[in-house]
Amino acid sequence: GERINIAIDGPAGAGKSTVARKVAEQLGYIYIDTGAMYRAVTYSSQQAGIGPQEAGKLADHVTHLDIKLQAGDNGQTVFLNGKNVTEQIRSRDVTLNVSHYAANEAVRQFLGAAQRRLAEDKGVVMDGRDIGSHVLPNAELKVFLTASVEERALRRYKEVAGKQPVTLEQLAEEISQRDQLDEQREISPLVRAEDAILLDSTAMPIEEVAQAIVKLSRTKL
Ligand code: C5P
Repeated sequence: GERINIAIDGPAGAGKSTVARKVAEQLGYIYIDTGAMYRAVTYSSQQAGIGPQEAGKLADHVTHLDIKLQAGDNGQTVFLNGKNVTEQIRSRDVTLNVSHYAANEAVRQFLGAAQRRLAEDKGVVMDGRDIGSHVLPNAELKVFLTASVEERALRRYKEVAGKQPVTLEQLAEEISQRDQLDEQREISPLVRAEDAILLDSTAMPIEEVAQAIVKLSRTKL
């Protein structure tokens, strides 16, 4: 076939979404940010007053959710039941709680099924934590993108500088906390799929990482 699916997984702040967007742009593929989907579920549940441990309520809640991702010039717009929640899902409150909601089985089943449907026709670059290992085990190209915690915290710090009153040390602590929760959960944890190519972006400009993945994708056609 002429189109493949590309899975890009890795820990928080490794540059996955920037890289995935660039790769999709170059290949004319669709970019899907699965983290945004987990964030949308988290935001919605918080709004509904449902905590991450309330499994029954969460299982029911997700059946009422319609999450849509729309590519645009200023990045990706996220719609939750028709409402634009792009800004809301990036709040600290969502970021600090998303891993707890993401550990819920019903949430993962609901979003995993939606993600598989989006990738059915191929030509998708999907970034997340469990795409290569669980959601799209047959993806033609799998990349596991990492970077040191220090470097990831620094990148996040530059992003939020001036917008959020948070120190570099706090960010580093929050990032490793989130990684731990994502690595240690029972259902589809963050793990490198055996057949995923490991890329360390600590000392590698994001643009180069994207180019490397585009090159790799050509070998899979
Ligand atoms: O990618 P991002 O940092 O926005 O993801 C937010 C959170 O969503 C992750 O920390 C993780 O808990 C959850 N997530 C997940 N599986 C994915 C994508 C994200 O559990 N495929």
